[in-house]
This record gives sequence, structure tokens and C-alpha cells, in this order.
Amino acid sequence: MSAIKLAPVRVGLLGIGTVGAGTFAVLTRNQQEITRRAGRGIEIAAVADLDVSRARALVGERARVTDDAFSIVRDPSIEVVVELIGGYGIARQLVLEAIAHRKHVVTANKALLAVHGNEIFAAAREQGVTVAFEPAVAGGIPIIKALREGLTANRIEWIAGIINGTTNFILSEMRDKGLPFDVVLAEAQRLGYAEADPTFDIEGVDAAHKVTIMSAIAFGVPVQFDRAHVEGISSLQAEDIRYAEKLGYRIKLLGITRRREHGIELRVHPTLIPSKRLIANVEGAMNAVWVKGDAVGHTMYYGKGAGAEPTASAVVADLVDVVRTLTVDPGNRVPHLAFQPDAMADLPILPITEIESAYYLRLRVADEPGVLADITRILADARISIDAVLQREPAEGERQTDLILLTHVTIEHRCDDAIRQMEALPTVLSKVTRIRLEDLN
Ligand code: HSE
Repeated sequence: MSAIKLAPVRVGLLGIGTVGAGTFAVLTRNQQEITRRAGRGIEIAAVADLDVSRARALVGERARVTDDAFSIVRDPSIEVVVELIGGYGIARQLVLEAIAHRKHVVTANKALLAVHGNEIFAAAREQGVTVAFEPAVAGGIPIIKALREGLTANRIEWIAGIINGTTNFILSEMRDKGLPFDVVLAEAQRLGYAEADPTFDIEGVDAAHKVTIMSAIAFGVPVQFDRAHVEGISSLQAEDIRYAEKLGYRIKLLGITRRREHGIELRVHPTLIPSKRLIANVEGAMNAVWVKGDAVGHTMYYGKGAGAEPTASAVVADLVDVVRTLTVDPGNRVPHLAFQPDAMADLPILPITEIESAYYLRLRVADEPGVLADITRILADARISIDAVLQREPAEGERQTDLILLTHVTIEHRCDDAIRQMEALPTVLSKVTRIRLEDLN
């Protein structure tokens, strides 16, 4: 082994919460191996956190501790800044200020990159620095590396991911134990999976941030979070999970992005997937990303999408990458969004009405002659083909029942029209429940 002669790279850590503490622990524990891989030591030289005494207790005398994060991004002795604060506010100012001071940045902040990524990457290019973000998507799973480098030969066709552990835990528990959403959410909060304010998780926003970033890398388009279609799981009914199961499907919150001829689909919503697919069997708080490339075929990446050391694993991998490229001409580094900045595509993100999907439809109907015929006529007129029909056996004396239809793939606006017509029938007694279905084959 050759001796490592260069001085360690000095890193400033902004925020030492769960992931920050994990990063400190992993870097300390695996210091020797990491140095052998990076070619230089990596030293957390300064830590900023509002809770200075907690930060001090975690790092001891090994790093300068301050509550002034700006003093770190302006410190000339710091070469790399790790941003673990989160959110679009102060984090954006700090990242831009760090870049302006020609520091490389590693960030776990998917919200920031999904919304302000184009501005941040442009600023980084101008200053010749790198913004690395492996921990921002699916925690410890090296999906950014896989998409940007490992699959670089491929024309990527689509990506479908379970990229929010909180909602996957909730859906797994609802299915396993037959519990309603609210009860399981409370359990997820008690176990520390869900945030105290879990809105971003359960309403699909966190997953949409992550799939927006993957979409940009897969297709070479700018990040466009504002064009993503976002639906969460808060209105999902336990009975739909049960009916889906009977028909051979599981319901997962998927982030999906797909290349189509005239644009890109970018969407997050509950989705029926055939139970036999590997991804349908990803349970609890685990994450998985399924990628279809034209050369490689289907690939799947599975692991922990959150937590102290799994996310630290991605932070440290990015630190090593940054250290390895410190001496590389900026024009020869791996581009932030995988494609060269002057070779980005201008494919639009398609509106949700233009996506292609199959559908699960649940209707509460009067149990009388001709109801099924009226509904199937509406679907036939809309050129929507039916794949399966399930009718719940009405209870003794009950005059209404649930009718569940699975359709073949169609364009969403046709399905919207058909649903409007069904809801206008006097025999359809409440709003139609519609959940998208993906075969992923
Ligand atoms: N809150 C996220 C999740 C982890 O539940 O997966 C961080 O993105």
C-alpha cells in the first residue's frame, strides 16, 4: 500500500442531527479504510448546529463547534461543506454561499434540489465545484451513482420507486393487520418513522422530490418539481387494499417517471402492482427503485431509505467521490444531472391527463339488473378495455354492493370521462374510487 501523504480534506458539517451524527460516527469508525479509498484523509473540522451543547457532546474536541453556519461556509480552510439542515430556506442560502466561496457541497436535501436544483447546479458549474447528492434519494441506496454512471450506456425507459419509508411502513401495516390509516400513522410516529409533521411523507411530497431528481438524471432534463403530479396515501381505504389483494395486487406509493414519445411522465400516487413482482414485496420502511434500461433490462436497487448510518453511508460515499475529483478539471467531472449541461433535452413533463396507465375502479352500485351493462357500455364507448371484474357478495337483504373493475392501459383523460359518466348514473351511489395500476413488466 502506498503511503497517503496529502493532508486530510477539511469538511464543514451543517446540522448534526440524526444523519450528521451518523456521518461523524461512520467517518470516525472507518477512517482508515476511507482514507485508503479516497487517497486522502477526510476530517470533519467544523460543525454548525443551533444546539451547540448537543453538538459538542457528540464531537468532543475533535471539531470546532458553532451555531453560526455562515462562519463555516465562509471559512477558507474548509474545502467541502455537508448540508444536513433540510428545507428550502436557510439551507438554500448556505449552499449558494458555500458555492460562491468555491466549496464543494454534499447535501441530503431532496426538497432543495427538486425545487432549486437548476439554480444550484448552474452556480456550481460557474464556480467549478461539485454538488453531490447521493443521500438525497433513497438514503443509503446508491441509486444516483447507478443511474448516472452504472447505467450510462442505456436509454432509460422508466423508473418506479418505493422511495418513502414512512408510507411504505403504513401501507404494509394496513395490509398485514387490516388497520385503518390513522391508527397506523400514529404507530409510525410512535416508532419514529414518521416526522412529527408527517405531511410531506403521507401526501407524497417527499417521494415527488426524489422522483423529480431521478427523472432529471434519467432523461437529461432540468429538475421540474412544479410539474410533478403528487398524490399521497391519506385517503386510501383499507377495503381497497383488501380488494386489490383478492385480485392479486398490492398497493404501494410509487414515484414513477417514464419516457414517452412526446414527453415525460412524472408522478407519485398509490399504485396497484402485481403481488408477484419483487417490488410489491418490499415491506416496512425499506425503499426500492426499479429501473428499466433498453440494454440492461430490469434492475432493482433495495435498501434502507432513511436512518443515521444508512444515510451516512451515502454522505461519506459522496465525500470520497468529491475528494477523488478535487484535482480533476471541472469540465471532466461526472455532470450533476448525468448529461452534459449543453446537451439537456427539452422534452416536456406531460400533464397527468396525458399519462398512460391501467386503472382499478371501485363503484358502490345498486344491486339491480342492467347496472354492470351500463358501466361496461360507458367503458366500451371510451375505448377502455376491461381486464377483470369483481363483485362483492351483498349481505342478506342488502340492496347495494361494491363493484371493482380493472382496466387495461388507457390514456388518463379517457378514464376521467368514463368516471364522470358513471357517476352520473342513478345506480352508481357514490363517487368512484380510482387507483392507478402498473404492471411494471
Ligand atoms: N421521511 C423519509 C421517509 C426519509 O420516510 O422515507 C427521508 O427522506
